[in-house]
Amino acid sequence: MFPGSFDPITNGHLDIVQRAASVFDEVIVAVLVNSGKSPLFTADERVALIRAACRGRRNVRTDTFSGLLVDYALKVKAGVIVRGLRAISDFEYEFQMALMNRRLNPAIETVFMMPAESYSYVSSRLVKEVFELGGEVAGLVPPAVERQLRAKLEARGAGRS
Ligand code: PNS
Repeated sequence: MFPGSFDPITNGHLDIVQRAASVFDEVIVAVLVNSGKSPLFTADERVALIRAACRGRRNVRTDTFSGLLVDYALKVKAGVIVRGLRAISDFEYEFQMALMNRRLNPAIETVFMMPAESYSYVSSRLVKEVFELGGEVAGLVPPAVERQLRAKLEARGAGRS
């Protein structure tokens, strides 16, 4: 499974989904809900955007989880956690998380995959920031995400035309 906040899904995430789907029989994109962070997109919106972006991938499905990731992994019988590593700066956080998850359940393995270099600087946080400030995000997120970002900002009255 490929867990994350996906607030929102980016083309970097999709690159990892594609790589995971070519290595594993089945991939569950697992969206964290109730993280304590206040996401821009609701869990339902995040799931819908992922499903739209992954349409046609027969071995990929999308689900939500709350609580411990390893408990969810057990529930859906997932033996591998896939995480993307963009740069060395991701490593410390990912390393801590992988070792904590291993301590919680040694039977579940974490596997890291590297996205294409062209996505090595792409994050959901930066995409939101750039879009909010009027920058171009085409090519960094699926078109449906761009449309939803625009709708969110317009609903907020931030007024991008
Ligand atoms: O995309 P993100 O926000 O970096 O994903 C982080 C995520 C969702 C994988 C992580 O926060 C997580 O697994 N949360 C669930 C709670 C949990 O299991 N915490 C202990 C993990 S060490």
